[in-house]
Amino acid sequence: MTLWTATEAAGATKGRSTTDWQATGVSIDTRTLQPGDLFVALKAARDGHDFVAQALEKGAGAALVSRIPEGVPEDAPLLIVDDVQTGLEALGHAARARTAARVVGVTGSVGKTSTKEMLASILETRGKTHASVASYNNHWGVPLTLARMPRDTEYAVIEIGMNHPGEIAPLAHQARPHVGLVTTVAAVHLEAFDSVAGIAAEKAALFDGLTDGGTAIVNADIEHAGILRSRAQARGAKIVEFGRMARDYTLTHVEQRADSLRAQGRVGDNEISFDVQSAGTHFAMNALGALAACVELGVDLDQAIAGLRGWSPVKGRGVREVIALPNGARIELLDDSYNANPTSMEAALDVLAASAGQRRIAFLGDMKELGAQEQAMHAAIADVAAMAQVDQVHCIGPLMRALHQALPEGKRGLWAETSAGMALHLPELIRDGDAVLAKGSLSMALAQIVDGLRKMGQGSALES
Ligand SMILES: Nc1ncnc2c1ncn2[C@@H]1O[C@H](COP(=O)(O)OP(=O)(O)OP(=O)(O)O)[C@@H](O)[C@H]1O
Ligand SMILES: [Mg+2]
Repeated sequence: MTLWTATEAAGATKGRSTTDWQATGVSIDTRTLQPGDLFVALKAARDGHDFVAQALEKGAGAALVSRIPEGVPEDAPLLIVDDVQTGLEALGHAARARTAARVVGVTGSVGKTSTKEMLASILETRGKTHASVASYNNHWGVPLTLARMPRDTEYAVIEIGMNHPGEIAPLAHQARPHVGLVTTVAAVHLEAFDSVAGIAAEKAALFDGLTDGGTAIVNADIEHAGILRSRAQARGAKIVEFGRMARDYTLTHVEQRADSLRAQGRVGDNEISFDVQSAGTHFAMNALGALAACVELGVDLDQAIAGLRGWSPVKGRGVREVIALPNGARIELLDDSYNANPTSMEAALDVLAASAGQRRIAFLGDMKELGAQEQAMHAAIADVAAMAQVDQVHCIGPLMRALHQALPEGKRGLWAETSAGMALHLPELIRDGDAVLAKGSLSMALAQIVDGLRKMGQGSALES
């Protein structure tokens, strides 16, 4: 189906189309470009203009450019604008303006992608749903998500992220959500902020972009919920709260099961229960926020709870699997290698502590962007409640030295500079019946530990 015509896109961007092209999608990367896509020549590590010829060869419907690149045929289908980033944002604005979709915006220090996927799983059962891909939540991710939105979309789920102050408001104004959900606020990206209160104020900027009469979904359990409430009030938004201490959507009990959890709660005076296909109380809380948002989008609560069953954790974000080893041994792997900060680290250690492993083993890598207190924040992991149930912790990276030193002798495992270095020792560190957690910031590549364990499933036997 046609997503953009040359005339529509030129009108939206105040650009000039060289031919009467049509596009069925939007892409910023020739490696994933689909035939018919409008290729957007963004400047990132490389200048996208250098890839326009390739994109057209791969069947792009047209290219959004700010100059005519070398090696592009005279009659190439181009949309020429002053600035490509501004052009992409203008397409996003036009796509948002032309749709009747109910839009929900999701931000938060952690849980954005997981909750966005939960919302998409639910809303897909109710109507045509468009959602951000992966973690596309920044200055190009949000307008790209909007520009890709089919005009007949019924529900749109937009993930909105930030690394620095001032980034959320412009993205929120692009998405113009009917419902804005802040999953939680925590000490993430502290390097760029003076305090967690500063992070809360930045997250609250999501509500600035709400449509008139929009709804703000606030996690009542967080320290700075007041900052979120007052920003929502300033926008004249309806406020709906979720959490253990919330009045609207209250989480009362979470029962951990093998691969899932059963949560109990109250909505107003009604008791509810819902299942989430993952371990971890934090996912029950994300789910409660997602249910509240869906009801505010007009979905019946029971239908939302049913739709939630279709969700399962995203790769590297709390996926649990059993690895069978050649000699009949088995280990349980908790793959949480996608990213890490003190809040998600504690949540992941809670899941490990609750697992049925004979031994509970953690491979923990550095947590980045924590700012001046980073050493103390790594050492503090030794004091989280869950650590009492963990048998051994192997530490990876210069910052994790602080944790390695803070750990009691009996729990202190190996320390290695890199995941690759630690992966060499896996056969001697893992035993039959172990439950193993791998977690660290993406750049620490804990995925190498995950892959190393999976490979053991295909090859070398464990030490008995
Ligand atoms: N509410 C929560 N509290 C604590 N940890 C959480 C919560 N939700 C998810 N997590 C954990 O945080 C990690 C990242 O989850 P997710 O990818 O959903 O977050 P995100 O906010 O999208 O991250 P990013 O900022 O990289 O986009 C996972 O390890 C997940 O288990
Ligand atoms: Mg994300």
